[in-house]
Amino acid sequence: MAFPIHGANYEALYKNFDLPLPTNVFDLSENVNCLGTPDSVHQMWPHLFSELTRYPHPEAEPLHSQLAMTHQLLNEQIVIGNGAAELLSTYANLFSGKKVILLHPTFSEYKETLTSAGATCIDIITDVHAHELPLEKINAAMKIASCLYICNPNNPTGKLLELDVLLSLIQTARQQQCHVLIDEAFMDWTDERNSVIPYVAQFEHVTVMRSMTKMYALAGIRLGYMVSHPITITRIKQKLPHWNVNALALSIGAQCLQEHTFRKRSIDVSKTQRMNITQFLREHGCIVLDSVANFVCFQLAQPEKTREFYFYCLTNGIVLRHTENYVGLNGQWLRIGLKKDEAMKAFQSIYLKWVVTL
Ligand SMILES: Cc1ncc(COP(=O)(O)O)c(C=O)c1O
Repeated sequence: MAFPIHGANYEALYKNFDLPLPTNVFDLSENVNCLGTPDSVHQMWPHLFSELTRYPHPEAEPLHSQLAMTHQLLNEQIVIGNGAAELLSTYANLFSGKKVILLHPTFSEYKETLTSAGATCIDIITDVHAHELPLEKINAAMKIASCLYICNPNNPTGKLLELDVLLSLIQTARQQQCHVLIDEAFMDWTDERNSVIPYVAQFEHVTVMRSMTKMYALAGIRLGYMVSHPITITRIKQKLPHWNVNALALSIGAQCLQEHTFRKRSIDVSKTQRMNITQFLREHGCIVLDSVANFVCFQLAQPEKTREFYFYCLTNGIVLRHTENYVGLNGQWLRIGLKKDEAMKAFQSIYLKWVVTL
């Protein structure tokens, strides 16, 4: 049975498994903000029509300068992408024929993009329950690798690495001449003080990736960016097509950066949902990993029944994210996106019905 490699697009998922599509479906397999796009984007929508006929700005304005201002960087330290996904593929191409370290379980797209770029992955499996990273293994691997990928907060565990741990890894990587990519796609859901962006100017070998599709619910329009030394940014830009980001995304992204209240409200909603679902699942004997993001990763009290439960949920209109293609989780865990009350309650009610069938 082939499991799709990503969450979201639930219609395709039901079709893939040859399952009838229920009338009501709650998609908890993706991590887009359940509050939707900020109201200000709805208000600007009619004015965006004028952008349709024009080519996007050659330097990705107005977003480019706004990002530089937000992060107190130079424009030359930033490149904007058609979603972080585009930048991830482009960045992977810098390591064609080289070795790259991945710390599993982590975002499956790293391995996909690196493999198709002709890089070799050094897979280090970390213990999801451990507080510490296997530093000895990582340090040894850095001696032969050209890059280390770190997802922080990590997808699918939601775990946040402490800044001092990261900075110490970055220093060791510098001695070993190993680049470091820090994927901060979910950093918006935590405190910006956890970000490595302010340190990029000090460390030429560090690149930080951010996505704007999660917090601002722009998954359809696509928007992400990378921050790095101007030399790395130039190398990435050389591999990207002209006008890789559409004009609508550039205007909407610039607007979203002003949305401080929206961001705070989104974090608050996700915190509450995270607390509630964690408590519910733990009360029912599940193991729930401590997450700082807008999703949580959990294991049933009977992990061998994970597939059965996953399909029970699907049949009842609840789409969870399976972990079949997450190295180190091997399908024995599930990830649930934090959505509005209605969706979270629907999940809980299906869970309780399932427990009765055991
Ligand atoms: C950890 C991580 N990085 C990057 C991405 C890609 O994000 P985008 O939607 O901006 O392409 C995702 C998408 O799910 C992700 O989970």
